[in-house]
Amino acid sequence: MYTEKVMDHFQHPRNMGEIENASGVGTVGNAKCGDIMRIYLDIDENQIIQDVKFKTFGCGAAVATSSMATELVKGKNIREAMEVTNKAVMEALDGLPPVKVHCSLLAEEAIHAALWDYAEKHDIKIEGLSKPKSDIHEGEEEEEEEY
Ligand code: FES
Repeated sequence: MYTEKVMDHFQHPRNMGEIENASGVGTVGNAKCGDIMRIYLDIDENQIIQDVKFKTFGCGAAVATSSMATELVKGKNIREAMEVTNKAVMEALDGLPPVKVHCSLLAEEAIHAALWDYAEKHDIKIEGLSKPKSDIHEGEEEEEEEY
């Protein structure tokens, strides 16, 4: 059911953990399965992603896709990181079973949410990046109704 690469990243996840004082943090959740993923980005003054870590409370495919996604964005600049879509992550893993495709979306959304956090803190715009839909805040912020 799973490719060797998926199994490898699931059993030996790369870049698991957290970054203190990260340049950008994004947390997203999947309403259907309840799984949660958080991505931390350390971005330097040239907008290069120097380090990236993730934490995932989720299924094996979510762990594998977060692991692969962090490998793919590391060393890239913030615009190149936008090209790390769930499709790119799935391709890098040699595919996922159809019922697990939504898990890879979580990785893309978490990266976007972390980039959004970085962009907001630095008052910049990243082309093609829009406000994350499912960013989860940890209680210290009031949820604003925007619509
Ligand atoms: Fe929820 Fe995979 S089943 S992320």
